[in-house]
Amino acid sequence: MNRIFSGVQPTGNLHLGNYLGAIKNWVSLQKDFECIFCIVDLHAITIKQDPKELENNTLEVTAAYLASGIDPEKTIIFNQSAVSAHTELTWLLSCFTPIGWLNRMTQFKEKAGKKKDNAVLGLYSYPVLMASDILAYKATHVPVGEDQKQHLELSRDIAGAFNQAYSTDLFPIPEPQIFGEATRVMSLRNGKNKMSKSDESDYSRINITDTKDLINLKIQKAKTDPYPLPSEKKELENRPEAENLLGIYSALKDEKFDDVMKEMSGKDFSSFKKLLSELTIDKIEPISKKMNDYLKNKDYLKKILEEGKKKANDISSKNLLEIKKTIGLLII
Ligand code: TYM
Repeated sequence: MNRIFSGVQPTGNLHLGNYLGAIKNWVSLQKDFECIFCIVDLHAITIKQDPKELENNTLEVTAAYLASGIDPEKTIIFNQSAVSAHTELTWLLSCFTPIGWLNRMTQFKEKAGKKKDNAVLGLYSYPVLMASDILAYKATHVPVGEDQKQHLELSRDIAGAFNQAYSTDLFPIPEPQIFGEATRVMSLRNGKNKMSKSDESDYSRINITDTKDLINLKIQKAKTDPYPLPSEKKELENRPEAENLLGIYSALKDEKFDDVMKEMSGKDFSSFKKLLSELTIDKIEPISKKMNDYLKNKDYLKKILEEGKKKANDISSKNLLEIKKTIGLLII
């Protein structure tokens, strides 16, 4: 059986990268897969969060899922901390994860910065919690943006290490699904950096909640180069900003990158930006409007999360029991 698991951290500033790299793809996957989409609040607290904001951000991501087209009738939506199997399994799997594997994680190195010794343990073991999210449901497929690839490889390794330790095939080895034309959306201020929630400049990203005027302004101000848009991919070498904006356009338009490049070839940035701005507003504004409507009814959002929690618990508690039995933990 195929089952999908994925998640977003409720850390505010949900942006176009999160939408195009992940959520938009999830919507189309619902047709063919059983899906579980989580709001990973336990991952969020690996970095200091204001309690009130964390709660609001959790509901905001829930609203974004629904507004983007995730269907709670078909798909399980819940917040991670509501289902205890995630943390319990994290301990169990940490006993199968060599420290050397965690030492290779580039996200930890980036987030911990120079003061590695002051970084909290949760930030270091973050990928084990992520593996637990996936493996608690025996998920077979995990749709994410390009930046999560290394964490997913680790999840695969942990699943393999467990299976090997007990000569079992209890865990399926989860397949990454990194697809679409914008698997790595870059900053609007610097095409070499990833678009990120934590970038100090709000002009580096388009937030799902940005107004029409702000989207327009951010695109007009986006960094470019002095040349017209090319017709061949090889001419995009050393033109990261051009490549990024074309990628965003094709992902939003649901058209192949090469086709968009042909369509735009020879245009200068001012006319391309106008089209990009119109398209972005056209696609993002309805989501943002729906999100605001959902956020006016927090009780409804909480009800969705409560229903999701029950379903997620049913699946993961059974799996956890099987995992504990396999390890030889006495079940009373
Ligand atoms: P998070 O919250 O950082 O990002 C959520 C999703 O958005 C994708 N993404 C991007 N895609 C394209 N371009 C970008 N600039 C960009 N920025 C973010 C991410 O790849 C991700 O798919 N650790 C994960 C959340 C997580 C998870 C999981 C994912 C926790 N447990 C289990 C899958 C399975 C994270 O921090 O995502």
